[in-house]
Amino acid sequence: MIAKAQRALLLAASRNDALREAVERAPVTRDLVHRFVAGTGDDHALEAAAEQRSRGLLVTLDRLGEDVADEADAARTRDAYVGVLGRLSALGLSDGGDVEVSVKLSALGQALGRDGESVALENARTICEAAALAGTTVTLDMEDHTTVDSTLRVLEALRAEHPWVGAVLQSQLRRTEADCRDLATTGSRVRLCKGAYAPPETVAFTDPHGVDRSYVRCLKVLLHGEGYPMLATHDPLLLEIGEAVARDAGRDADAWEVQMLLGVRPQEQARLGSLGRRVRVYVPYGDDWYAYLVRRLAERPANLALLLRSLTSR
Ligand code: FDA
Repeated sequence: MIAKAQRALLLAASRNDALREAVERAPVTRDLVHRFVAGTGDDHALEAAAEQRSRGLLVTLDRLGEDVADEADAARTRDAYVGVLGRLSALGLSDGGDVEVSVKLSALGQALGRDGESVALENARTICEAAALAGTTVTLDMEDHTTVDSTLRVLEALRAEHPWVGAVLQSQLRRTEADCRDLATTGSRVRLCKGAYAPPETVAFTDPHGVDRSYVRCLKVLLHGEGYPMLATHDPLLLEIGEAVARDAGRDADAWEVQMLLGVRPQEQARLGSLGRRVRVYVPYGDDWYAYLVRRLAERPANLALLLRSLTSR
């Protein structure tokens, strides 16, 4: 397991512009970036989505970027999503939710002062209308623990018009088992992940086993519930437990799915897909790829070694 100090250092590196430039310049690190990020523009995202579909995998597209500075920025994010949904539809990729989108409310204005939540809601509503026209779904990513109540309020408002809007819950938070119970209702789509942020012990399990045990409790609630569970993890043990619980709960193969990130355990994604499991790949793209990349590296020492080797072997 990566040491806490090393992780903190990497998260600090995610805000370091000089390092970002070094990674961008080095030809070998560009390959590393491409392993985890589809590219910077819509064309790259659409190509990556088509490629995953040709392998029989489902896709959720995430336009990278968070914490916009003002309403104009938030509107640009909204318009970019509307644009890509239109293009997905024209290509027939979004039919039946095969390719959907994941959205961070902070990129739609959630943190912009007192009205941030309603700004984000209005922007998300427009994206949901575009998704409805494209015949697909939207899932709200979950950000740091201070945003959970606001994100769930936005979810509730959106679901009143579009019951298929989904949300992410993080097993690292102590509240999440109860949130799973609230959301395990008919038509509700919940993506369960461990959580990529560093919340304090007062609200979160801070040791990995506590997070994993919570994940198991949460997946049981979701798989035995009435909604559509989406287990987002690369953890072999949790995936095995998920399979067993889904079987116990009498879930058909199309009544839940596994989700993994682009570039992480691609062989396992293909293997599960070939067994008839619904597997969705989270495909991030956009100019703001650097902080995302560093978060992925912070999760796995082998990835970090790859980056360091790449930076020193020019
Ligand atoms: P973890 O990182 O603990 O890894 C567990 C085990 O998985 C490892 O021991 C290893 O066996 C295997 N493994 C992991 N990476 C591997 C690799 N590169 N190669 C081989 N084996 C590997 N977070 C958040 O806070 N909000 C969000 O909205 C989302 N959204 C989201 C969507 C999707 C589709 C996914 C998959 C993940 C997220 N996340 C997220 C990120 C999530 O919270 C978490 O940080 C990462 O998924 C990593 O956690 P794992 O569950 O994979 O376990």
